[in-house]
Order: sequence, then C-alpha cells, then structure tokens
Amino acid sequence: MSPISTRRHDDVLIVASNNPPVNALGHAVREGLVQAIDQAEADEQVKAVVIICEGNTFFAGADITEFGKPMQMPMLPIVVDRIEACSKPVVAAIHGTAFGGGLEVALASHYRVAVPSAKLGVPEVKLGLLPGAGGTQRLPRVAGVGKALEMAASGNPIGAKEAYECGLVDKLIEGDLEQHAVAFAHEVKDSRPLPKSSERDEKLREARDNPGLFDEFRQANAKKFRGFDAPEYVVRAIEAAVKAPYAEGVMTERQLFMELMSGTQARAQQYFFFAERKASKIEGLPENTQPRDIRRVGVIGAGTMGGGISMNFLSAGIPVTMVEMAQDALDRGAGTIRKNYEATASKGKMSADQVGQAMGLLTPTLDFNALSDCDLIIEAVFENMDVKKEVFGRLDTIAKPGAILASNTSYLDIDEIAASTSRPQDVVGLHFFSPANIMKLLEVVRGAKTAPDVLVTAMQLAKRIRKVAVVAGVCYGFIGNRMLIPRQTQAMRLLLEGATPEQVDRVYVEFGMPMGPFQMADLAGVDIGWHRDTNRIENIRDKLCAMDRWGQKKGAGFYDYDEKRRPSPSPAVAEVIEEFRRRENVEKREISDQEIVERTLYTMVNEGALILEGGFAQRASDIDVVWVYGYGWPVYRGGPMFWADTEGLPKIVEGIRRQQERLGPDFKLSELLVGKAGAGEKFTR
Ligand code: 3HC
Ligand code: NAI
Repeated sequence: MSPISTRRHDDVLIVASNNPPVNALGHAVREGLVQAIDQAEADEQVKAVVIICEGNTFFAGADITEFGKPMQMPMLPIVVDRIEACSKPVVAAIHGTAFGGGLEVALASHYRVAVPSAKLGVPEVKLGLLPGAGGTQRLPRVAGVGKALEMAASGNPIGAKEAYECGLVDKLIEGDLEQHAVAFAHEVKDSRPLPKSSERDEKLREARDNPGLFDEFRQANAKKFRGFDAPEYVVRAIEAAVKAPYAEGVMTERQLFMELMSGTQARAQQYFFFAERKASKIEGLPENTQPRDIRRVGVIGAGTMGGGISMNFLSAGIPVTMVEMAQDALDRGAGTIRKNYEATASKGKMSADQVGQAMGLLTPTLDFNALSDCDLIIEAVFENMDVKKEVFGRLDTIAKPGAILASNTSYLDIDEIAASTSRPQDVVGLHFFSPANIMKLLEVVRGAKTAPDVLVTAMQLAKRIRKVAVVAGVCYGFIGNRMLIPRQTQAMRLLLEGATPEQVDRVYVEFGMPMGPFQMADLAGVDIGWHRDTNRIENIRDKLCAMDRWGQKKGAGFYDYDEKRRPSPSPAVAEVIEEFRRRENVEKREISDQEIVERTLYTMVNEGALILEGGFAQRASDIDVVWVYGYGWPVYRGGPMFWADTEGLPKIVEGIRRQQERLGPDFKLSELLVGKAGAGEKFTR
C-alpha cells in the first residue's frame, strides 16, 4: 500500500503521508506525491491541495538508506518541480521537523503553514551534502540569502516563529493543523498568479547589491568549516542562485550535489549518522527492560567534573544535590556553575529567568545524608581507588534501595568499586568528558554485575541531557582513554627520536583534529596523573612538571605562552628533549609526517581492534562515536575505525609492521586487525 493517501475536504484535496518513523521521502512516497498532484490536477472538483504528514513529523528529508543505491524514479527534484508546477495552490502543513528534502517539498509548495513547535532546516551539510532538490535555489529566494547561507551551511534548523519572521512560513497555526491548513487553502484557492518560489527575485536583489557577502561569510566561518567540503559547496550553490537564472542555478546545484555524493566525506558523514543512532542500542538485554525513574540526581565532588556534570541535569530541569568535603570547595563549585550560566546568558543564549530556574534546582551541601532521596548518584571525587571505595561504601549505607550508583572515573575498575557496596547490580560507570556541560559524549561503563535496567536508564537519561551514550566494558581507560595511551606513548617517543611538539601537532591539525597531543596536554594540564615528586624525574613529562611547566594554566608547558595564551615553540622544552635524548642514548633523525601518522594513528586503530577483540566495545562504529564526540576526530573521516577501512586495513598493518621495532616491546599487534586485513574485510561495513 502506498504511504501516500488522499482524501477530499470540500474542494481541497488532502494529501497525507504515513511513512514512519520520520516520513522520509523514499521511493514510494515520491511516487505517491506525484500521483496525488496528478489526481488534483485531473479532478475539476479540486481547487487546492494540502500536503500533510501523519505521525511525529513532516517529511524529515530524503531517505538516507537509499543513498549509494541506484535511484528509482521519480527523483526528488522532479517531485518538487511537479508540486510547484501544479496549476492549483498547494499548501504544505508542517509539524515536527521539515528537514532537507522535506523542506524542499515545502518550498516548492505555493504556501507554507506550520505549528509553532515545528522546526525547519536543511541539515544535508551534516551528511556531507547540500540540499539537492532545489533547496539552495528556492531557500534564498524565500527566506533571504543571509538566512539561507546560515541555515544551509550550518545545517542547524530554525523554529517556526523565526521561519515566519523571515518569510519561510506564511502562517503560524495554533490548534488543529489539518483543519487550519484546509481553511487556509480555502482562502487562497482562487488567488492567482500562484506564488512560485523559483520565480521570486526580490530577496536576491539585496545580495546582488552586496557582492562581497559570500566572501565575508566564508571568512567569518573559516574556522568552523575547516576541512569540510560541503559548506563551501553550499556557499557556491547559493552564490549561483544569486548570480544566475533559476534554471542554471539548479543545474549548478545538481552538479555540486553529485560531486559531494561521490566523495569520501559524504560517505563518512552518512555512516556516522547511523553509527550515532546504533550506539544507543545495547546487545543482549532482556526485551522490554524498563528504565528506572530518575527525578533527583546527586553529584559527589564539585570540582572540574562534578560542576559540569551537575549543569547537564540542571539544564534539563532535573534537581541536583551536590556534595563536597569542604565549604570552600562547595562554594567554588556552585560559583563556577553560576558563572558558566551567566556567561551563556550574556551571549543571549539563556534568559536571566532561565539562569535563576537552573540555579534554583541546585542544592549544594556538605551533608552526605542529603543524598538519601536521590535516584541516581554520580561520584566525581579524586581519581584514587581508596577514596572511591570509601565513598561507595558510605553511599551503600545512605542511598535508597534501587538508586543507581555511578562513578565518573576515567580509568579505575568499576567492578572493584562495585564490590565495595552490597549492591553491585546498581553500580555503573558514567564517564563524562571535560568540559562535562559541553562535550556530547558519555561512556556508559557496563560492570560485570550491572543490571540491565540500570543500563537502559543510563542510555535514556543520556538522551534527556542531550548526550550521545556509548557502552564500554571494564578495561583500563575504557574505549576513549585506552586508545589515547599508545598515541601518547608514541608521541613522546617521537620527540626523543627527532620530532618536535610543533611537528606532531601540525600533523594532527592538518588531519582535521582540533589540536594535537601536545596542545591537548597543555590545555588539559601536563600535571594530570603526575606523581608530584620533583626529585623523581624519569621522563620528559616529569621534568616539565618539576619545572612548573604544567601547561596553559601556568603559562608554559610543551609550548611557551604569552599573556594572551598564544603558543610559541619553547627553547627550554627543546633543551629538555635534548637532555633526555643524550640520557637515553637515542640518535636524532629526521621524522617524516607519515611516520607520525603510522606510529600514533595506526597504533590507535590497532588499540581499537584490541578493544573489539576483548569485547570492550559492542561494535566498531561505537569506537568511532567515542572519538568524534569525545576527542574531536573529524567527522568527515568517520572515526578511527571507518578511517582505517577507508585507508585499507592491509595498508594499516603494513605501516605498523614497518614501525614495529620502534613501537617498543610492549606493543601488541591485534590479531583481529591482521585477520581482517588478510581476509579483505572491514571493521565498519
Ligand atoms: N532517512 C532514513 N532514515 C531516517 C532518516 C532519513 N532521512 N531520518 C531518520 N531516520 C531513521 C533513523 O535512522 C532512526 O532509525 P532507527 O530507529 O532504526 O535507529 C529513526 O529514523 C528515528 O530517528 P532518530 O532516532 O534520529 O529520531 P529523533 O526523533 O531523535 O529525530 C529527526 C528525528 C530530527 C528527523 C532526525 O532523525 C534527523 O535529523 N534525521 C535526519 C534528517 C536529515 O538529515 N534530512 C536530510 C536528508 S538528506 C536530503 O534530504 C537530501 C535532499 O536535499 C535531496
Ligand atoms: P577535581 O580535583 O577537580 O575535583 C574533585 C573534587 O572532589 C574536589 O573538589 C574535592 O574536594 C572533592 N572530593 C574529594 N573527595 C571527596 C569526598 N570524599 N567527598 C566529597 N567530595 C570529595 O577532579 P576532577 O577533574 O573533577 O575529576 C573527578 C573525577 O572525574 C576523577 O575520577 C577523574 O578521573 C574523572 N574525570 C576527570 C576528567 C577531567 O578532564 N578532569 C575527565 C573525565 C573524568
């Protein structure tokens, strides 16, 4: 049965789509739409058409699962042109998300009405594409060039109210959408000529008077777009809308769309779209496991992580009890939360009222017993097993039955922590990333005894606080930090052999990472995990710490920093490296960029393979989600495992083997990696 059905309401033909879950514009929908427009055209009784969707949303875009397969006719550009060419007025009635191809259907309709909660956007850029069904040509004509650039190059949607203000929506509907859309269609049924988006010109004129607009936009967003192909293509397509007639503009759009579609970035970003959604699915749980109810959250420790973790819940309207050991630490923690919210408010992203509301949900206290009514308690105290065990032992006597007890530990054994309680089934790792109020990743660490409903609750809660959760098993560093270890080890070793921090970091930035390992160390703190004994100097890092070079916070680390925190290569660090080179009798040599890639990135892939081998990640794509959301791996390379597949696993194995002697005696080559390379298999496909 076709997902498109039609019914008459007086002289209005209602064309309804029912294609769950998101009314994606798959082949049957496209075909149904064209048939419905033909029907409206042929039926003399019909004076106007309303296109509306059932379920949660208006068309949320093209069907991404059809990408990469031979396209079945009619293609979307034909469908939208057919809608616009209809001789009777077509009204798009929008609720939920009119995204991508969905917005293009709406733009081709002669009128658009929407409920206030609707969102309108062209997120194609997030899939490495551009709107390919006339969107880059119609959107600037309807919403204005500036708005179109902003929406299409960022991929971020706008709300219905903003859409109304910029002319993208003709009317906001309070109440029943279908009923009001039909009434609207009645009002416009005799109005001629029909307003066709492709024929409008008035909003393009302002842009023609300001030819510098596009370069200004490129410059203003250069940092955000670095490495990505699609945003530049979007700009070019919209430029064509301004500079060329519509018919030429759509041809440019098509050509640019096809170029992007055949590139590796689009493949990587589309892969990642599904990887992110797969990550929330946990294998092997009893069906219909129900989550526990979480109404109040407790956070222990108001330091760097405790404060950020608390903010996630406060922002989602969930009350937080935050416990500390000492009043000054508690005051500092609560003060930082307030300062962060106020900074957001000063940028206009939050109102003073919202700051008040969030802070009103926070109860800072020194009284541990105040945690007794919390449904979830997250520990974020010092990274020390004895301290953690003491805290969990105490929690065991205070927390109510059924409360979830979570640790934010970066490396420690969740099973050992769980064993310090009488309820290991309620214990789970919730590993947030710094800054915890901003970074999207949450590693959910599944202990040997963690109950299924605890896991389900954690995954669901992650969605509530807008995080992307990935399940990890108990191993040192879980998924993300464990993969950092070979990278750090090799990066330090490369310094001794002749690379500089600047060279290693440059290779990373050129690869598309926000920063390299040494820039990251300076930002996070060179002293993290340092033993704090200035007389015990065993490596370069010990020496830097002893020299008070703890990173940006001290104005010096692997780099020197000026008063504006601008880095420059450090002669003092070069001397320290030289000193260790002599001490360890390492000969300095020229290091190629390729060697840096092989020794630090290929070894990360190898570690990912070892994680899969050990069953510490459910699937290779989960590892990619961790790296994109936790460490800024460029999404247009899909993540380390997808990237390895793209490079070719035999090439990765060959590169590692070439370096094997230099990788040191502790390096272990993954059998899974070697096996897959030999069998011509991939990790992610
Ligand atoms: N095609 C195929 N499947 C899609 C899809 C699409 N466009 N959008 C969502 N889905 C699937 C998801 O994979 C998921 O499947 P699953 O249940 O099997 O995991 C299911 O629909 C529900 O999706 P979400 O879990 O994301 O549900 P939410 O309610 O959280 O979000 C949404 C809904 C906001 C619509 C979100 O899914 C979304 O942003 N989708 C992508 C929209 C998009 O990128 N559209 C542009 C497509 S490209 C295009 O239109 C090209 C054109 O210009 C030619
Ligand atoms: P921090 O030192 O900034 O904060 C720890 C806070 O816990 C301090 O304010 C301290 O007073 C308090 N505290 C210590 N013992 C306590 C107790 N018994 N009861 C109540 N409060 C107590 O440390 P940070 O960086 O916030 O780290 C906390 C945890 O989060 C550690 O396990 C760490 O490994 C983990 N983590 C840290 C990340 C980071 O980037 N800083 C990232 C992810 C996890």
